[in-house]
This record gives sequence, structure tokens and C-alpha cells, in this order.
Amino acid sequence: MGFFITFEGIEASGKTTQINLLYDYLKSIGKNVIKTREPGGTKIGQKIREILLSKWDEKFPYIAELLLYEADRNIHIHNIIKPSLEADYIVLSDRYIDSTTAYQHYARGIDYEIVSYLNTLATDRLKPNLTFLIDIPAQISLKRLSKTKDRIESEDIEFHKKLREGFLKIAENEKDRFVVIDGTMDIMEIHKIIVDTLKQRKII
Ligand SMILES: Nc1ncnc2c1ncn2[C@@H]1O[C@H](COP(=O)(O)OP(=O)(O)OP(=O)(O)O)[C@@H](O)[C@H]1O
Ligand SMILES: [Mg+2]
Repeated sequence: MGFFITFEGIEASGKTTQINLLYDYLKSIGKNVIKTREPGGTKIGQKIREILLSKWDEKFPYIAELLLYEADRNIHIHNIIKPSLEADYIVLSDRYIDSTTAYQHYARGIDYEIVSYLNTLATDRLKPNLTFLIDIPAQISLKRLSKTKDRIESEDIEFHKKLREGFLKIAENEKDRFVVIDGTMDIMEIHKIIVDTLKQRKII
């Protein structure tokens, strides 16, 4: 079995930046590694991502949104994550179950039990071995975001505050799985903390 690492955090916290740096580093030391993302880690998922991130002039209920994220996730684990872990790869995923708990439960207000049950169903109980939560204040997120905002990024500051607090609560409840990093630090400082964590835990 390989090793499953996820990156979580609010928009523009630096997830993609850090995944790319870690991916290049792991490749450079000869590791079998893949990077993937949610939503949209598969061809079918890419279609679901387009639906989720587009602006619509019809009702897009929160439950429909939740179910689409979970459908994307289920397709993702069966096509990418599980086969890669079985082939002994280190899998780096840009968002996973914790994003759904943070957005759909803590920010949108859907019952925790429903979100948790659907996360379990969609993943076949596959949890990450390790999760990096890159934490930044909502104001910094909004400052870093470009002017062309997608549907989710256009939510207001209160939404992003709830989201950030949600991620921190999730991490607090699963301290063994999470490493919380201050995302306002320098990009290369954060990268070093991530690499050092993998070394300390004898993952590399
Ligand atoms: N530690 C950092 N300090 C300052 N700027 C940063 C830092 N990390 C990333 N950035 C910048 O912030 C922006 C968002 O970074 P990135 O795309 O990695 O975030 P993300 O978490 O993947 O965002 P999204 O949720 O929108 O995909 C980029 O312009 C990036 O260069
Ligand atoms: Mg990103």
C-alpha cells in the first residue's frame, strides 16, 4: 500500500502551490508519486467540476451541490486514488473529505451526520494517512484571490470565516491525522515544514 496525503484549506491558502512543490521534490528523490485534485481528478469529474464552479441562473440547492461533490469523489477514489495506493504510490490530493465537511457542513449548514455519512459512502471509508491544513485568515484569502472569481469564491467574507473556523475544528478533532500550518509564512518555509514532517514520520 502507498501513502495518501491530502491538502486542505480555504481558497488561495496555497494548497496547489505546496502540492506542486512537494510533487517535484518527491519526484526528484525518486519516489513514485501522483498529484490529483477534487473536484475534477478524473474525466467524468472534470465535467462535474464545470457544473460546480459555473454560475447558473437556476436554483442550485446545497444538497445537489453536496451530492455532486460526493459523486466526483466516488469516481475519483475508484479511478485514481485506490489504484495508485495499490500500486504503492504516494498520492497527493488537492482537497478531499475535509473540504466537504468544511464547506457543506460548517459553511452551508447541512447536518454534520449527513455530510459525514456521504463522505463515508463516497470514499468506501478510505481516509488520508496525513492531511496538511494550510491555514490563512479570510481577509488574506480575499486579498490573494484574483478579480475573476468563480461561483464559490464569490461568497462573502463571513462565509470564508465560517469555512476557516470549520477547517480548524475538523483538524482539532483528528489531531493525529492533521498538521496545521500557518499559510501566511513564506512559500519555501511552508514547503520545508511539509518535507520535514514527511521525514520525521519516516514516510520518505
Ligand atoms: N505562502 C504564501 N505567501 C504568499 N502568497 C502565496 C503563498 N502561497 C501561495 N500564494 C499565492 O496565493 C495565490 C493562491 O495560491 P494557490 O493557488 O496555491 O492556492 P490554493 O489554496 O490552491 O487556492 P484555490 O483554493 O483557489 O485552488 C497564488 O497567487 C500564490 O502564488
Ligand atoms: Mg488550488
